Amino acid sequence: MPIFLFFLFLLLSCVQVEVLSCNELDRDSLLSFYKHVSFPPSEIPLNWSSVDCCKWDGVTCNRDSRVTHLSIPGKRISGTITPFLGNLTFLSHLNLSHNQFSGTFPFTVFRTLKSLDLSYNLLSGTPNYSLPTSIHIIDLSSNRFNGSIQSPFFNGAPRLISFNVSNNSFTGPLPVSICITSRHVRMLDFSMNKFSGNVSQGIGRCSKLEVFRAGINSLSGWLPFDLYSVKTLREIFLANNQFTGSINNSISLLSNLTVIDLHQNELTGEVPKDFGLLSNLNQLIIHTNSLNGSVPPSLMNCTNMKTLLLRNNHLGGEIASLDFSPLQKLEAIDFGNNSFVGNIPVSLCLCRSLTAVRFAFNQLTGEIPACLAGLKSLSHLSLSDNFLSNVVGALKILMRCDNLEVLFLSRCFKDEPMPNDDHLLHLNGLQNLQILTLGGCGLKGEVPSWIGKLKKLKVLNLSYNQIRGTIPKWLGSMPNLLVLNITRNHLTGELPREIGNLKALVSDETDPNLSNLALPFLFDTLQYNRLFNLPRGIKVGNNSLSGNIPAELGNLRLLRELDLNDNDFNGSIPSELSHLVNLEKLDMSGNHLTGEIPESLKKLHFLSALNVANNDLEGEIPKGGQFDTFTNASFEGNPKLCGSLLQKSCAGGQDEMLPPAPATEELGTSWYTIPFGLGYAVGFFVVSISFLLRSSWK
Ligand SMILES: *[C@@H]1O[C@H](CO)[C@@H](O)[C@H](O)[C@H]1NC(C)=O
Ligand SMILES: *[C@@H]1O[C@H](CO)[C@@H](O)[C@H](O)[C@H]1NC(C)=O
Ligand SMILES: *[C@@H]1O[C@H](CO)[C@@H](O)[C@H](O)[C@H]1NC(C)=O
Ligand SMILES: *[C@@H]1O[C@H](CO)[C@@H](O)[C@H](O)[C@H]1NC(C)=O
Ligand SMILES: *[C@@H]1O[C@H](CO)[C@@H](O)[C@H](O)[C@H]1NC(C)=O
Ligand SMILES: *[C@@H]1O[C@H](CO)[C@@H](O)[C@H](O)[C@H]1NC(C)=O
Ligand SMILES: *[C@@H]1O[C@H](CO)[C@@H](O)[C@H](O)[C@H]1NC(C)=O
Ligand SMILES: *[C@@H]1O[C@H](CO)[C@@H](O)[C@H](O)[C@H]1NC(C)=O
Ligand SMILES: *[C@@H]1O[C@H](CO)[C@@H](O)[C@H](O)[C@H]1NC(C)=O
Ligand SMILES: *[C@@H]1O[C@H](CO)[C@@H](O)[C@H](O)[C@H]1NC(C)=O
Ligand SMILES: *[C@@H]1O[C@H](CO)[C@@H](O)[C@H](O)[C@H]1NC(C)=O
Ligand SMILES: *[C@@H]1O[C@H](CO)[C@@H](O)[C@H](O)[C@H]1NC(C)=O
Repeated sequence: MPIFLFFLFLLLSCVQVEVLSCNELDRDSLLSFYKHVSFPPSEIPLNWSSVDCCKWDGVTCNRDSRVTHLSIPGKRISGTITPFLGNLTFLSHLNLSHNQFSGTFPFTVFRTLKSLDLSYNLLSGTPNYSLPTSIHIIDLSSNRFNGSIQSPFFNGAPRLISFNVSNNSFTGPLPVSICITSRHVRMLDFSMNKFSGNVSQGIGRCSKLEVFRAGINSLSGWLPFDLYSVKTLREIFLANNQFTGSINNSISLLSNLTVIDLHQNELTGEVPKDFGLLSNLNQLIIHTNSLNGSVPPSLMNCTNMKTLLLRNNHLGGEIASLDFSPLQKLEAIDFGNNSFVGNIPVSLCLCRSLTAVRFAFNQLTGEIPACLAGLKSLSHLSLSDNFLSNVVGALKILMRCDNLEVLFLSRCFKDEPMPNDDHLLHLNGLQNLQILTLGGCGLKGEVPSWIGKLKKLKVLNLSYNQIRGTIPKWLGSMPNLLVLNITRNHLTGELPREIGNLKALVSDETDPNLSNLALPFLFDTLQYNRLFNLPRGIKVGNNSLSGNIPAELGNLRLLRELDLNDNDFNGSIPSELSHLVNLEKLDMSGNHLTGEIPESLKKLHFLSALNVANNDLEGEIPKGGQFDTFTNASFEGNPKLCGSLLQKSCAGGQDEMLPPAPATEELGTSWYTIPFGLGYAVGFFVVSISFLLRSSWK
């Protein structure tokens, strides 16, 4: 009995082996594919060694031992895709994503595919052959396909549900004919190509469409008006195009919408008044258009809203008339660069999930509401360029927002007293603050020592105020400070040598916890990139500082900008400044410096802007290095300097002097104020590359 069973088993297993050994044509086809590809040396190649190709890595067969699936994503395989692969006549799923396949894809030979994923390769050419009728899913995204997609491509693809060609170089009109032939399509992603022209109609025929993305192209004309009839839509992404006209209020009837992203177009008209009907909406991103009017109160009925970005439009009205309290999930709100008036709305304090609030560049008045202290998740607050009052009160309140990392309060108060230690020293707030700007407020008083308690502070801007007294020595012991800007105040006394101890400017041992802001959401990635790539700098220009320039500044090896201009510094230029090997800009103009320009400054290979005009320097201007690139404007107003640049020979004495250059007292500083002044004020809030913004949510 047992022996009989044994033989039965043997028999069965033989049959099994027989059935499973793969079809020879399929095997040859796979092997010829294998011959055309290669693997990076570090990668273990696919195990395609056994006789039965159905057991090979990434290969799946059906019951008849015909290959149905080939799935080898992310193996860093390079080479071309041979048309011989088309001999897999039962292949239904092909996934070659995240490899380095190049050349064209032989669309013609695959007539049985249901799912094709070629994303993240280096494939090129123009798909010019109709898709197989069996196709359901096609992903050609992140390749180098180009040319225009002709309508025959979709002929006979009636089962298509998902079509992604994003991040290629496709041109021509958006192939809306897809909606004639493939009416069941649920996902269309055309974003990040060069599609152009208008799409006024056609998309509406895709009556089951849920996701429609065509952002970051050159589309123009009105928003496709038949889009408003596609009730199944969940996401519309048409940002970064040149769409004009208004957003039709009938968008409010697409009740399943969760994401509307139309930013950076040329849209006009008002914000649709019935947006409030979109109870599922969680991202409304319509910034950087030309929308006008006020914010419809119904918007506050979108209780799932997380991200509400309206900046850079022509919106206005009384902001406090909006009741934000229903928006319990709101995380980020940006109403910046509009014309909103009135007080900061108190109802905002009830949005407990808020991490980022930006109302900069509006006409808000009044004080910061005390209840803002309750926003414990708030990490970014920007109120710059408004007409607020009571900076002392504001800081007392904000000291209680423990997670605040970024605080922009420039040009929003006027000529008030600087919040001083009596007000704030006993409070231990703002312990996570990394960026504090309080510039251009005309604040009066001294540099307060509560700032010294902000141990994580990296950027401090107190420029354009009316600060008196001396620069405190303790600034030099702030552990993370890398940008200090106290330009244009009334500071006196010496520049403390302790500034030469600023750790973050001496060596690059950035606290890893501080390297990235822990914002779950960024308003404007570019803005932050600018901040964190802000040249490490010390700017104390336009004050009344006196005494020598401390040689200790030479320790600040990482410094890229040093502005000491328009003060009363005397003595000579310390040769230690030649240790500042990263220095790009050095301005010492408008002081009383004497002696020669140290020859060693030639060692500053990155120095692209030097200004020592209007001092009392003497001797020959060094030659060579970057000195060959400076013009006479850098040196003028120093009667005792000589050199060919000033057309004044050093050798021959006074008699050989060429006619003196006209006296140009003011010229010396003009190069400085124009580019840099503008850069800071405008640059911080420059419009984002919205694509960066989007990718930051992923
Ligand atoms: C390759 O695959 C065969 C069959 O599946 C298996 O027997 C063999 O151990 C594999 N070799 C390696 C190195 O993984
Ligand atoms: C395999 O495919 C190639 C290219 O498509 C074709 O030329 C060849 O005839 C096919 N071989 C067989 C046996 O079908
Ligand atoms: C292809 O493989 C990748 C990696 O496993 C996977 O994420 C992707 O969903 C696959 N594509 C399709 C269309 O199934
Ligand atoms: C399709 O494109 C390929 C190259 O990408 C080309 O060789 C072929 O002739 C084209 N076919 C048609 C019908 O245009
Ligand atoms: C399309 O593919 C890209 C990757 O290339 C991916 O980021 C994007 O999410 C895909 N689109 C959709 C709608 O899934
Ligand atoms: C776009 O495609 C390139 C090349 O495949 C890839 O490196 C890049 O990450 C893709 N970008 C996005 C946003 O998916
Ligand atoms: C596609 O790109 C290739 C290579 O860059 C180029 O030669 C070809 O002209 C392009 N085709 C179209 C239709 O733009
Ligand atoms: C483009 O759209 C405008 C309306 O925005 C329409 O008048 C015009 O006919 C459209 N042009 C084409 C080529 O479809
Ligand atoms: C909206 O979404 C829900 C849940 O996914 C779905 O059941 C419903 O059919 C959708 N409505 C429309 C009009 O597509
Ligand atoms: C909005 O769309 C409706 C039809 O859906 C149309 O009657 C109306 O004129 C459109 N309004 C605007 C301002 O385009
Ligand atoms: C908000 O919704 C409520 C009930 O759903 C409704 O009564 C109210 O009118 C809506 N508010 C606005 C401003 O549309
Ligand atoms: C310092 O502040 C002034 C005035 O706000 C500005 O022009 C300058 O660009 C700022 N520099 C830095 C490095 O922040």
